[in-house]
Amino acid sequence: MRGYLPKPIPSEVLEQLLITARMAPSGANLQPGTFTQVKGSVREELSADLVRAWRAGEAEVEDYDYFPKPMPMTLRKRQVAAAQALYGALGVPREDRQGRDAQFERNFRFFDAPVALVITLEHGFGSGGYMDLGMALYGFMLAAQAHGLSTCAIGAMASYPTRIREHLALTPNSVVVCGMALGYADPDAPVNQTRTERCALSDYFRVVG
Ligand SMILES: Cc1cc2nc3c(=O)[nH]c(=O)nc-3n(C[C@H](O)[C@H](O)[C@H](O)COP(=O)(O)O)c2cc1C
Repeated sequence: MRGYLPKPIPSEVLEQLLITARMAPSGANLQPGTFTQVKGSVREELSADLVRAWRAGEAEVEDYDYFPKPMPMTLRKRQVAAAQALYGALGVPREDRQGRDAQFERNFRFFDAPVALVITLEHGFGSGGYMDLGMALYGFMLAAQAHGLSTCAIGAMASYPTRIREHLALTPNSVVVCGMALGYADPDAPVNQTRTERCALSDYFRVVG
């Protein structure tokens, strides 16, 4: 969900979601990763800085690669379909660069959700650490859903690790993995009418022997 009501989330609810997320399994029970809640003037200044940097086309070296390079055509098609679902729900046509940019900028404002989180991983973890942290993130998202809340993970945040570390007073040992928006979804927000599909079972399940 990318549109939220201004209804606040009690801190006990957020803490319960985080405790539930920590129940995720992890290799050797290392429980990697940290959730940082970003509030008040720190959040305002972070979002303003990221929006400004993005508008100015200022790029940073990301801490990790998310997508395959090059992107295979089968995956590219899924990426395009997801973008079409999002901008279609907003009524923003492909050639409307300004409309697309306006939506993209909202990533850096955590979609104006009442709760904004930045998720980091201790430097040095290999792929297993990302796998473990992904399970915790999904645990968090499902727990939120069970509380009647909604979320959106924000990989776009990982484009500005250095700025984020500065604003959040994080050490260089923190790898910026993603952001997370949390709140009550606005049922009337057009952006929340985005619906995505999943590929067929036969595309990702095979039996041998
Ligand atoms: C780790 C992660 C990062 C994501 N980053 C973004 C993002 O930066 N901006 C965004 O609008 N959606 C982001 N998403 C949401 C995906 O686009 C979305 O999950 C996908 O298109 C499937 O749609 P659904 O979750 O609504 O079924 C992210 C999802 C995940 C799991």
